[in-house]
Amino acid sequence: MTDRYAVIGNPISQSKSPLIHTAYARSTGQDLAYTAIEGPLDGFAGAVQAFRAAGGRGMNVTAPFKLQALELATVKLERAELAGATNALKFEGDEVIADNFDGIGLVNDIQRNLGVALAGKRVLLLGAGGATRGCLLPFLEQEPALLAIANRTVSKAESLVQALRGRRKLHGDILVCGAYGDFGHERFDVILNATSASLKGELPPVPASCFGPDTLAYELVYGKGLTPFLRLAQQAGCRQVADGVGMLVEQAAEAFEWWRGVRPDTTAVIQQLTVPLV
Ligand code: ATR
Repeated sequence: MTDRYAVIGNPISQSKSPLIHTAYARSTGQDLAYTAIEGPLDGFAGAVQAFRAAGGRGMNVTAPFKLQALELATVKLERAELAGATNALKFEGDEVIADNFDGIGLVNDIQRNLGVALAGKRVLLLGAGGATRGCLLPFLEQEPALLAIANRTVSKAESLVQALRGRRKLHGDILVCGAYGDFGHERFDVILNATSASLKGELPPVPASCFGPDTLAYELVYGKGLTPFLRLAQQAGCRQVADGVGMLVEQAAEAFEWWRGVRPDTTAVIQQLTVPLV
């Protein structure tokens, strides 16, 4: 029997997940159907329950349900718990298991697809919302020399650092945070825009001096072309810029492997979804 999976969000028509997972199913020979469900804003839990009752095996979860999905889970894996949100659920018997693959998808895109190893590097994360929360643990596991978080509201970044220190013994000053201006005199190997500024056409106030010619500038949003952040990076002389299309495709590959036990190849799907950065 064909196994059923779905992505749930509201709105949902923009989601690339059905395209990605259908391509993975085809390339790995897995017998599954993957659809998109527009969850009612006041009825998320009911929609998940109905999908499970109809034989659903797992779901991806997107805005605005990522927090509710974690609350509903009976088993919360550490990455999801620390992120405070889940983007993937697996249904096993009575259990609803929650994980979060956004951070590992981002790490895999940077290291495998863009060829930038994170070990020993100086990394600057802009923003302290859900996207940053989801990235912290997977990034720290790569053992960068420094993981700095800059946010307008510094207290939000401080809470994230504290939450991580509660879970992991971190050596020295590997994890720091502050206001954007605090990092004006420092250069970074990788700078990631994990704010929602680009969705509004805005620029987070990252000092241009943080970029060097060999800095990787990475915009977590995808498909928006050259965002104000990426344009600033280029103007600052940065040669390597990327958006989040690879992160999207790689997090899907992690979920697919979690559900099916088979690792799909991501190259063709990334090529298909890439929008030129102009
Ligand atoms: P989510 O959890 O969905 O990521 P969020 O919690 O609202 O959304 O986080 C959005 C992030 O983008 C925050 O770090 C926000 O900064 P503040 O915490 O100071 O609000 C950041 N952000 C949004 N617009 C921004 C802008 N124009 N410049 C700089 N940071 C911005």
